[in-house]
Amino acid sequence: MRRCSVVAIFNWPPMARCQLVLLLLLCIAGAVLASGADGRKPIGVYELKKGNFSVKVTNLGAILMSVVLPDSKGNLADVVLGKTPSPNTLTILLTSDQWPAASRNGYPGAGSSSTAKSTTCTETTAGNTLHSGGRQFVKSIWEVKEYVCGGDSPYITLYHYSFDGEQGFPGAVDVYVTYRLSSPYTLGVHMNATALDKATPVNLLSHTYWNLGGHGSGDVLGHTLKLFASRHLVLDKELLPSSGRVEPVAGTPLDFRTPTPIGARIRQASGGQVVGYDANFIVDGEGMRPVAVARDGASGRALELWANQATVQVYTANWLNNTKGKDGKVYNQYAGFTLETMGYVDAVNHPEFPSQTLRPGQKYKHDMVLKFSF
Ligand SMILES: *[C@@H]1O[C@H](CO)[C@@H](O)[C@H](O)[C@H]1NC(C)=O
Ligand SMILES: *[C@@H]1O[C@H](CO)[C@@H](O)[C@H](O)[C@H]1NC(C)=O
Ligand SMILES: *[C@@H]1O[C@H](CO)[C@@H](O)[C@H](O)[C@H]1NC(C)=O
Repeated sequence: MRRCSVVAIFNWPPMARCQLVLLLLLCIAGAVLASGADGRKPIGVYELKKGNFSVKVTNLGAILMSVVLPDSKGNLADVVLGKTPSPNTLTILLTSDQWPAASRNGYPGAGSSSTAKSTTCTETTAGNTLHSGGRQFVKSIWEVKEYVCGGDSPYITLYHYSFDGEQGFPGAVDVYVTYRLSSPYTLGVHMNATALDKATPVNLLSHTYWNLGGHGSGDVLGHTLKLFASRHLVLDKELLPSSGRVEPVAGTPLDFRTPTPIGARIRQASGGQVVGYDANFIVDGEGMRPVAVARDGASGRALELWANQATVQVYTANWLNNTKGKDGKVYNQYAGFTLETMGYVDAVNHPEFPSQTLRPGQKYKHDMVLKFSF
């Protein structure tokens, strides 16, 4: 097997070597921004490749940076929205909530321009931890535990030690994320967590924005979406499930039980303060099972998601507006969609929901399998 070479390594301070101009800039950005225990870990971009299916991941926030695959005519495209690694990107990642990947008590809310409000969530208080308050996992530099770039089943395992009090949550937690490619055109995302000393809420999510026509190719309103969900969690204007109500999707713009264009009823959908989807669906059934199928007729690409989580948040990038992306692309409203599987949102404040509290010795396991076709 060919040797793995890391696509890019950004030496975080203290800077050992900054050979290229770009790296130099990144090092400077790093020197300005980095602090604390992460200060010594390098940031890298790691590629997993299986024929013409390839994925890039960075250990900054364990973010899925790209997924490249053919379409029905044999054209390759990257179907993940994102930013080019640059000093500016790092600034954004470290100082705002732009592209969250995983967070400790993942509560997906207002998406790319969301504001994390409270850092004081405890087991009993009602802190709004949209994407988790304060310092998020996405702003942490994860340790690369294992990396196999090619062969039959390329994978990378990233590890993060979340200390007692991080993001305002009690207890220390070990968190692992593995991205793994398998045939045919399948990406597995496997997250696990272990509470080391205290009981603590854990609800991780992947916040990847998809556009099966290729990122920057326009909006996703023409994609069809099928959700294996006959009920949804009612969210208020703050995108919190304050009423605790679970209602049928039947007869609402949230009914995606048969494949329906995302844009068909989007004008009737309200994602908090803005028009568009930002809704939480209860996935039918239990265990590892189908969650969603999205399809872009123009490119012929489809994405089928399986997961073992209770709910899925669907967000249609309602706040993107002339937003600069990677490869010189510009993203506007509805330029992508997310399928964020997770446990019940805000379960800590709703005893009627299945608990998301992880006790020492218990194991949290979140598996997603994304099957692409074209
Ligand atoms: C992608 O790889 C598959 C399997 O090797 C091959 O059949 C197909 O022609 C390739 N497509 C492109 C666009 O390279
Ligand atoms: C979590 O995943 C990592 C990497 O695959 C593995 O080494 C570890 O044993 C897993 N931990 C638990 C508690 O399952
Ligand atoms: C996008 O931004 C422009 C300029 O700031 C503003 O006029 C416009 O209303 C925004 N559009 C949306 C959909 O938010």
